[in-house]
Amino acid sequence: MNRAAQEWGLRAQAEYRSAAITAQLLHWLIQAGLSQELLETATRIVGDELVHAQLCADVVEALGGDWEPVPTEVRHLEIAASPNGLMASILDSLLPNFLLGETLAVPLFNAMRLGAQQPQVVAALTRILADEAVHRAFGWAVLDELLQLDGPGVRAYLSARLAGELERLQTLYASVPGPALRPEERAAGLLDPKAWGEITARAIEQDVRPRFAARGV
Ligand SMILES: [Fe+2]
Ligand SMILES: [Fe+2]
Repeated sequence: MNRAAQEWGLRAQAEYRSAAITAQLLHWLIQAGLSQELLETATRIVGDELVHAQLCADVVEALGGDWEPVPTEVRHLEIAASPNGLMASILDSLLPNFLLGETLAVPLFNAMRLGAQQPQVVAALTRILADEAVHRAFGWAVLDELLQLDGPGVRAYLSARLAGELERLQTLYASVPGPALRPEERAAGLLDPKAWGEITARAIEQDVRPRFAARGV
């Protein structure tokens, strides 16, 4: 199968995982008694991610791929509950998936869309990009409510983990394998392997660190 179709197949699985992870986080946020507004946004995000998964699968078909979803192991569709309690479980999911994942997704998807030309790819990336900006804002709004519940505890928990998570991400994206893109792969919404690391490093400095610093993390 061509590289573009294969990558969109992986994106479909990643979006499906996002739906599951958000549904689990929603459950924990209900248990923690967060505001109705945030719970409703979380509900919306679960739906968004399922739509994204379907859009990505449709792109695979449009690109001529015969991708079939490989059954995902159930354990990949959840975060292990923390032995340290509800707040720790919430933060273990919020930090990698929203404060980092959704925040970095915005510039990454933006770069993918800038080079995209295939109509179905442009339509999918436009919808995903509009939603991810909402998802990013949601993550930081959740953090703000958690800080109101237990400011010192939340700051200490995140401060102990932030550097390690950032290092993990930078290593992951600095070593995206594969040759430079061909024009038709660029038009199909792929990112050049070395662009992943550059965009991630810039976004960590410009989008991630200032948001943490403003909250005393
Ligand atoms: Fe998504
Ligand atoms: Fe998302």
